[in-house]
Amino acid sequence: MIIILDYGSQYSQLIARRVRECNVYSELAAHDISAAKIKELQPEGIILSGGPASVYAKDAPQLDAAILDLGIPILGICYGLQLVVNMLGGQVERRTEKREYGKAALRVDTGSALFVGLEDNFTAWMSHGDSCVRLPDGFRRIASTDSLENAAVENPARKIYGVQFHPEVAHTVKGLDILKNFIFGVCQAQPVWTMANYIETEVQRIRETVSGGKVLLGLSGGVDSTTVAALLHKAIGEQLICMFIDQGFMRKNEARRVVDLISKYMRINLVHIDASRRFMEKVQGVSDPEEKRKRIGNEFVRTFEEEARKIGDFQFLAQGTLYPDVIESAVAGGTQAKTAAKIKTHHNVGGLPEDMKFKLIEPLRWLFKDEVRKLGRELGLHDDLINRHPFPGPGLAIRIIGKITPERVRVLQEADSIVMAEIKAAGWYNKIWQAPVILLPDVRTVGVMGDARTYGMTCAVRCVTSEDAMTARAAHLPWELLEKISSRIINEVPEITRVCYDISSKPPATIEWE
Ligand code: XMP
Repeated sequence: MIIILDYGSQYSQLIARRVRECNVYSELAAHDISAAKIKELQPEGIILSGGPASVYAKDAPQLDAAILDLGIPILGICYGLQLVVNMLGGQVERRTEKREYGKAALRVDTGSALFVGLEDNFTAWMSHGDSCVRLPDGFRRIASTDSLENAAVENPARKIYGVQFHPEVAHTVKGLDILKNFIFGVCQAQPVWTMANYIETEVQRIRETVSGGKVLLGLSGGVDSTTVAALLHKAIGEQLICMFIDQGFMRKNEARRVVDLISKYMRINLVHIDASRRFMEKVQGVSDPEEKRKRIGNEFVRTFEEEARKIGDFQFLAQGTLYPDVIESAVAGGTQAKTAAKIKTHHNVGGLPEDMKFKLIEPLRWLFKDEVRKLGRELGLHDDLINRHPFPGPGLAIRIIGKITPERVRVLQEADSIVMAEIKAAGWYNKIWQAPVILLPDVRTVGVMGDARTYGMTCAVRCVTSEDAMTARAAHLPWELLEKISSRIINEVPEITRVCYDISSKPPATIEWE
């Protein structure tokens, strides 16, 4: 394992993902982790991330000095390098010119273990305000640029390395090779982190935790919960019961398709609850977005609770919590099953009441999203399940701006199914992150069809590309495809007479309209 100490860089998670791409497990830890704890975890190497602070700032995040004496290889990146240099008696200075930001031409010493096998110059990505001007005893320079003398340093005897640039970002041309040199060459780690091994370990862990108990899983049809289902099924078979609640705001025929795909390919115990009527009763006529979410969330919890009680006794509740959620709630390294205090069932659609004393099973809590897809593939899930676009818990209800009525749900389902069919047919489905269709509030516009005047609704199509939904851009769909989508919707959904394409980026816009 490689431990990444997080000094607040926007790239900390990316470093962890890069290490894992090399088939070596990596975990993020808070920068104030003690040397004793590190010793206990027995990592093969430690990477200190970058961060926004300056080592001379009053509250500059520190490193337990004893970690430097553990004999475990260390790679400091940007702030991580400056911190080590400063701690070991070197000197770091604020750059007098402006911050260095962007691409820089790097000259490297290929005699260093960090750069062995690479060309002696390549482009690297810099982003820093301070730089290291005097090296601590025992260190030597191994890379420089025209404006930066000590772009990388090493003390091979102590196995301490540092780079001022960011090897984890794609702009650093040989970045991954540098990380590999550190991970395999310096740390001597073995590439054993594979999804096949993950399955083996998790199956074992789940069996030990669950023993003879029963596990309930809320299945939404999304890739996370479906992968959890497949993994749990492999581990405990019939002891798993999955519950799929159709709130009536799924895509056209989607509830049926999810149930069919899952029962056909996975043969798991699946309880399908058609709760569309009771959800519609709760939101009919509601137009405030937060009120919609709240009502749907509450109703979900109520339905889940009622239906779970009907099925029988469960000791465990499984969830598709991912590693980024774990990092965010700062409980990295937590245990597999914890007593549930506050839990979310259906990705931010409400939480279950505290008196439901389930223990939690979260077998994806060590994985990033891209790893979940790999895991799903390794478990043999159908491509249609693995590559599905994310879909919000409250479903189409938050894509109907203004009042929700059964009729408006139906109209949106029709328009949405045309968009889905067309982007799939044109080979765009897997290139985009999401493709919401939004039904605009009751603003009618005039049109003409045949010789007759029309006066109908408007919908917006919003296809976006994104890495993680934090930022997004409108997808540059070919004009012909957009025209085809528009023409099909207007011809086949008589209630809609105008189609717009939403070209706003996130930020400042969000992906969903509500
Ligand atoms: P925004 O609209 O904030 O969406 O850019 C980011 C991602 O989150 C999804 N989303 C939701 N998912 N319940 C969910 O389960 C919700 O209430 C919700 N709102 C937004 C959205 O589809 C996108 O993937």
